[in-house]
Amino acid sequence: MLSQLFGKDTIVGIDIGSSYIKAVEAEPAGNGWRLINAALQVTPLDSCRDGVITNVLDVAQAIKTLLRSANIRSSGAVAAISGSQVIVRQVQLPQMTEASLRKSIRFEASKYVSAPMDESSVEFEILGNVEGTDQMNVMLVAAPKDLVQTRVSVVEAAGLEPISVDVEAFAIMRSLVECCACDDFATATIALLDMGASHTDVNIISNGNFALTRSIPIAGDSFTNAIKTLTGFSHEDAERLKFEMAAQDSIDKLSVQEVESKCWRVVQPLLDELLREIRRSIHYYQSQFPEGAEQATVSKIVLTGGAARMPGMAAYVESKLSVPTEVGDAFSGSLVSPGRFTQDFVVEYGPVLVVGTGLALKEEMARARLRPAA
Ligand SMILES: Nc1ncnc2c1ncn2[C@@H]1O[C@H](COP(=O)(O)OP(=O)(O)OP(=O)(O)O)[C@@H](O)[C@H]1O
Ligand SMILES: [Mg+2]
Repeated sequence: MLSQLFGKDTIVGIDIGSSYIKAVEAEPAGNGWRLINAALQVTPLDSCRDGVITNVLDVAQAIKTLLRSANIRSSGAVAAISGSQVIVRQVQLPQMTEASLRKSIRFEASKYVSAPMDESSVEFEILGNVEGTDQMNVMLVAAPKDLVQTRVSVVEAAGLEPISVDVEAFAIMRSLVECCACDDFATATIALLDMGASHTDVNIISNGNFALTRSIPIAGDSFTNAIKTLTGFSHEDAERLKFEMAAQDSIDKLSVQEVESKCWRVVQPLLDELLREIRRSIHYYQSQFPEGAEQATVSKIVLTGGAARMPGMAAYVESKLSVPTEVGDAFSGSLVSPGRFTQDFVVEYGPVLVVGTGLALKEEMARARLRPAA
């Protein structure tokens, strides 16, 4: 632990998704960071769903295998919680010290959390005073205690020291916004959509701050399950068919019916439902501003996660939501350079390594902030 504090050892970011576990190691390099190691491994079937790990030992074993195969030697790890049970809200409260807020935070959180407070973990960060008022902005995070504890248990059972448990949305923000080599995002409103297997995370970031975060339970697995029901195939075969569907004809082409595909016919209604929910989130965010307010305009959508890799996804989302859309990755235009990894690797895996990279950098960035300026 001391070696970690003094910056000798690296920390591995472990993103435990319901479909893939990703591990990322990065080290400081120049003004930013360099990727040392990155790898992924299939999550044991049915051991993780909507952020809940149901089989600690199998997941821990899969992490061990992943670390060994990728030659990852870090002893400390940062993991994250995610899913519909995690509440992330920016709230305004009367200005007070951190110590006073710590005493009343559970009461404040109880206004936003439906689960019993004694079964919830609550954390907060004071973001700063609201100009011209006696209020301050506070980032509030609440989640069931078991959700956090299970992450800690898995990391320990994999032989690693749990350094901290983060929230996936924060890791995405770190990776895509804080590590962006440009400062385009500092003054814009953008939507970051992480389309995984069991859920899609929607994060609206305005002027570099969280404005809304929501988890929608429609993602890659929903598409696979629809194909499974259509064909009667196993999960693996339905998954393969899904990959083939979009690899043959990108989904923006499928949607204009240039080609007939039975699979697309069952996938499209689910994707459209997901996009309707995303549009609803964007409208909800916009409803807080007077009409025409600059801050209300979402100027860009950045897609990440495995489902964002479906050929044609960005074009399809753009056509449905009328917002310029691109696939983002952890290493392009980023302060994190891909190091020894090739451009092909970046294109292929960059979008799914966004959470893992943000986790790997959590402590690194905190250390960098502590380092005296040169
Ligand atoms: N090229 C592709 N075409 C279609 N689907 C893809 C492609 N690549 C990955 N996927 C899908 O992406 C999903 C996995 O993405 P990801 O690794 O981001 O999910 P996860 O982090 O395991 O899940 P979650 O975060 O929801 O628990 C799977 O449903 C997989 O089928
Ligand atoms: Mg994920």
